[in-house]
Amino acid sequence: MVRPILKLGTPALHCPAAAVADFGGQTQQIIDDMIETMHAAPGIGLAAPQVGEALRLFVVDLSVGHKASDLQIFINPEIVERDGMQLEEEGCLSVPGFVATVLRPSRMVVRAADRDGSLRTVEGTGLLARALQHEMDHLDGLLYVHRLRGLQRASIERGVRKLEHLGRW
Ligand code: NI
Repeated sequence: MVRPILKLGTPALHCPAAAVADFGGQTQQIIDDMIETMHAAPGIGLAAPQVGEALRLFVVDLSVGHKASDLQIFINPEIVERDGMQLEEEGCLSVPGFVATVLRPSRMVVRAADRDGSLRTVEGTGLLARALQHEMDHLDGLLYVHRLRGLQRASIERGVRKLEHLGRW
């Protein structure tokens, strides 16, 4: 089921999420809904808090549904290694209509459980490293907007307030 994606300013998006303790049917359903919601959006990543689930869980698919092996599920992820820097334009399904240039690591190694609870380590560079850090941030209640400073952040916040005022947010 495609779920509504919460937008910047919704309190549930801005709270740290709790570890997943149960890999049973309810969690499996949330994962399926998240994959469907990410593909429908369309987007390359989605974290559980974005659909109102305060769980340390996110999905990533750089191919947006075109290549099955690109779809990855990260449950209770932990950063093992992080290095380098990249500065690229980035957006978020919770901040529709806006993008900004965000500083991110150029390489990330993340250890996480898959949907069956088995642990594995995933290394990402480039766009995957960016997506992994972006989604990890969501689990701590952070959006990319919070990593911006000065004018970039002010201009997005102003734009969002304007849309809120118009009832279009
Ligand atoms: Ni996002």
